[in-house]
Amino acid sequence: MDRPEIILAPGPTPIPPEVLLAQGSPLVYHRGPGFGALMRDVTARLRALYRTERARILVLTSSGTGGLESAIQNCFSPGDEVLVPLAGFFSERWARLADAFRLTVHPLEEEWGTRLDPAKVADALARRPGVKGVLLTHSETSTGVIQPVRELASVARDAGAMVIVDVVSSLGAVPFAFDDWGIDVAVGGSQKALSASPGISFVAVSEGAWGAAQGAGNPRFYFDWREYQRSAELPEPENPWTPAISVMQGLHAALELYFQDGMDAALLRHQRLSRAVKDGVRALGLDLFGQGLDDNWTVTAIRAPEGISADTICHRIRSDFGCVLAPGQGPLKGKVFRIGHFGYVSELDIIRGLAALEMTLERLDHPVKRGASVAAAEQVFQEAR
Ligand SMILES: Cc1ncc(COP(=O)(O)O)c(C=O)c1O
Repeated sequence: MDRPEIILAPGPTPIPPEVLLAQGSPLVYHRGPGFGALMRDVTARLRALYRTERARILVLTSSGTGGLESAIQNCFSPGDEVLVPLAGFFSERWARLADAFRLTVHPLEEEWGTRLDPAKVADALARRPGVKGVLLTHSETSTGVIQPVRELASVARDAGAMVIVDVVSSLGAVPFAFDDWGIDVAVGGSQKALSASPGISFVAVSEGAWGAAQGAGNPRFYFDWREYQRSAELPEPENPWTPAISVMQGLHAALELYFQDGMDAALLRHQRLSRAVKDGVRALGLDLFGQGLDDNWTVTAIRAPEGISADTICHRIRSDFGCVLAPGQGPLKGKVFRIGHFGYVSELDIIRGLAALEMTLERLDHPVKRGASVAAAEQVFQEAR
């Protein structure tokens, strides 16, 4: 019998029924009061999520990468210098994007899985006084590492550089504070911690970045922030182009759900799910990958046991149990697999995933103590009562 797959991947995350219903309901026409009300609500919720009173919030129709592209287009001119600390797949995407728009990219190369050292970034900036922006990835989804954005932003600001952060897989799952941390641009997406469908990205823009956007020389049209701002200022806010209306209706419902218990409760839930996964996996004798594991509440990267490819584990758990985990990327391909534990994921989803992992490993001839990971996860959940 066909059943929905059990998605424990780092995005898109499972979508709650309320969101599916909202996006399946009649279309709200995108010019006029209905969509205007949606825009007002969604923008206000996102503002709270970003923890900003001052930033402009722009809602774009695109996946997260479009939001990232909009930041490069609107903040810079060809030849502008940017520093990009590299420690995983998505920080490398920043560098590729900046390069595509002919920025001068100064990479700061670290091994994948590294938690960046702000002192090293300060050092690199001191050697490159012309750097106009630092491109950061808050949750490096390829390794699970949460980068110390607050501290990194502080050294970037001291060097007079704009702080531009990819929060696609972190916003809503781990603490973030746009105003207090002095961020200039933060780009998020609908399909991660908020558990809406893919298709909408959002950008918070500081006054400084807005100023840069007025004079930026990069080509831009679809993602021109000035167009979005003009439309957002109409008496009934709009998008400049036809937006992904149904996804927006779903995102509206997803934000309502997210805020039902409050942001602090949502963050605690993510912390608890993360601990349960980590304790459960360790109880199977497997090793975790990456630095700063206690802070990483979005996705956990796990080293495959000796002699078994991580890709085989992902393939087998999906074919036998309908459970979707994520394979390793880049140099980690075959070596690690990843369990996503953010968004609309419950305690029992984690238990199901761990049980499936135990059985899969046993079927691949890796010895496990049956029930060990499930017991470890239950311990975390019961302690939290
Ligand atoms: C940290 C990070 N940045 C950017 C993206 C790209 O987002 P999208 O696939 O929505 O374009 C992802 C998606 O996995 C991500 O995890």
